[in-house]
Order: sequence, then structure tokens, then C-alpha cells
Amino acid sequence: MTAPDEHTDTSTPASCERPLHDRGEHGATDHQATEHEATEHQATEHQAGSSTERHDAHRRAQPTLRRTSDGSPTLHHPTYAQTYHSTHGAWTESLHVFVHGTGVLDHARRAGSVRVLEVGFGTGMNFLATVATLPADARLDFVSFERDPLPADTLRTLRLTDLPGVDASLVTALIRMSEDGASTLSWGDSDRVRLRIIPGDASQHVLEAGWLERLAGEAARTTSGSRPSSGQTGGFDAIYHDAFSPEANPELWSESFLEALVSALRPGGVLGTYTVQGAVRRTLAGLGLDVRRTDGPAGGKRQVLRAQRSGPPED
Ligand SMILES: C[S@@+](CC[C@H](N)C(=O)[O-])C[C@H]1O[C@@H](n2cnc3c(N)ncnc32)[C@H](O)[C@@H]1O
Repeated sequence: MTAPDEHTDTSTPASCERPLHDRGEHGATDHQATEHEATEHQATEHQAGSSTERHDAHRRAQPTLRRTSDGSPTLHHPTYAQTYHSTHGAWTESLHVFVHGTGVLDHARRAGSVRVLEVGFGTGMNFLATVATLPADARLDFVSFERDPLPADTLRTLRLTDLPGVDASLVTALIRMSEDGASTLSWGDSDRVRLRIIPGDASQHVLEAGWLERLAGEAARTTSGSRPSSGQTGGFDAIYHDAFSPEANPELWSESFLEALVSALRPGGVLGTYTVQGAVRRTLAGLGLDVRRTDGPAGGKRQVLRAQRSGPPED
């Protein structure tokens, strides 16, 4: 087994010898990863109980600040005994796994706009990394599920304005959004960046037939504004799947949930995530995606996942 990641919660029971959150792991072989998954699973059942119990505990518990190896911050959640990002570099992970891993910048350059669906808004770091690297004239429609939006005070402790390329006025707007309990934000010239946070349990939302497809359709209309482009087919261009691990957040990795997500991805669109667990790969492949393990971020996990929906080339 690889060395435990430093984000292991030292307060976890003795049965939880390994980190529940595998996203910062170095160089595990497939065999080692399988052993790790089994241990994670047992520990999670023991520790976290049912989804409802976890959720109640999640609401009561307060996440604490952690500094990661690239200097950027993340949070550690005591209920899940997991961090919101890799402790080997939160910002590095956001850029590598989600922004670059899904190709959203290339799409934005080609089409002039991009639509992203995220599972788990958390600190907003993946959103900020996307905006910070987006071509200056491109539009972004970012829709994110979040059951437990972070309080404004917690967001302030992260000092997100210190992140490279992040506009202070966007961070201020995010914090104000949290203070106001708002779920939407428009920012930049001609409101070129739009954020919508969908509150509640994401796995419950998608139970309603056609709900995600409608969401994707709304995103397409706002992103294209008054100038629809040929690249604006239905569906999201990218999905950032950034829930806690499959053991800690099983409802967000179930076949039915992943199937609903994939149905909202446009042909050629990419789902990116940090876990390469076999069950996740098999489910996505079974849903018709071209699933690849790609190199992980420098200093972090050995491999991460990129899953592309087949379809005609865009534009
Ligand atoms: C790993 S963190 C996300 C990190 C985030 N992308 C960021 O940039 O900071 C996982 C997030 O999923 C949220 N979450 C967990 N279960 C959920 C559910 N069933 N529905 C919606 N959100 C959920 C948690 O509250 C947490 O914020």
C-alpha cells in the first residue's frame, strides 16, 4: 500500500487506517488501488452510516482549513474524513483534472462559449480555475450541484483571491452570493460568466425524467445569448465530477446517477474526475463513453479519469 496521504483524519477510528479520500495518492498500482478501495469501503460503512445520517452529521460538523502542497487552500470535512481537493495541490488538481482534463478551454476558444456541469461546488475552486483560464472573450455557463453550500465566513478563510489569475471581484461576488443565500451569479463584461448552484441532493434531482436535459438546454440558451453558434448543440460540453469518494458519496457514483449525467453531456463532451476506480470506469464504459486513465497532476495521484461521449465532431 502506498503511504497514507496527509489528509487522513487522525481522529478517525482505528478501523480506518487509510485515507478515505484517495485523490492525493502517489503511484498506486492497480492491485494496490483495489486493496485500497476495499479498505475504504469498509471504513466508510463503519464510520459514516446511511446517506441521511451522513448528511445530518455533515451539516453539524464544520470543515477546517488545510494548506496544500502547491500553497493553495482546501477544506477537510470531519464527517467524511476527506478533503475537498488533493492535499498535494488543490489548485493544481482543479486545473489538471477538471479544466485541462476536460478540454473546456479548447472548446471555448473554438466555439466562443462553454457549458460546464459540476457535481459538488464546495469551495468553488474548480469554478474559479475555469474562469481564471478562460479566453477573455469567451462565455461560460457553469452549473453546479451542491447540497451544503459553504457559509460566507468559511469562504473568507480560504483567501481565494490569492489564487493565480483569480479576480477579486469574482470572489467578492461568490461570498456575497453565499451571504444572500442566492443561487445564481452573473459576472464580467456582458455577464459573460454565469454560475448557477442547484441546491439539494443531486441524486434526487436527476430522478425526474428529462430534468438534466432541460437544465442543459437552459444553459445552452444563456451561454449563446443572442448569438447562437453552430457549436451550441444540446448538452453540457464538460462534466466535472467532483463528489467525495465513491465510498463516502455512493449516491453520486451510482449507475443511475452517472447515466443521468451522461445523458446531459453533448456528443463529444468529456466527463473528468479524479478517481480511476474500476467500478466507475466500468460503469462509464457501459454507458458508451470512451474511458481513459490519464496522467495525474505533478506530485499528486498517478492517474485520473477522462471519459468522452462519442459523437460527431463539433462545429
Ligand atoms: C469534494 S467536495 C467538492 C469540491 C469542489 N468541487 C471545490 O472546487 O471545492 C464534494 C462536494 O459535494 C457536496 N455533496 C456531497 N453529497 C452531495 C449530494 N448528494 N448532492 C449534492 N452535493 C453533494 C459536498 O457538500 C461537497 O461540497
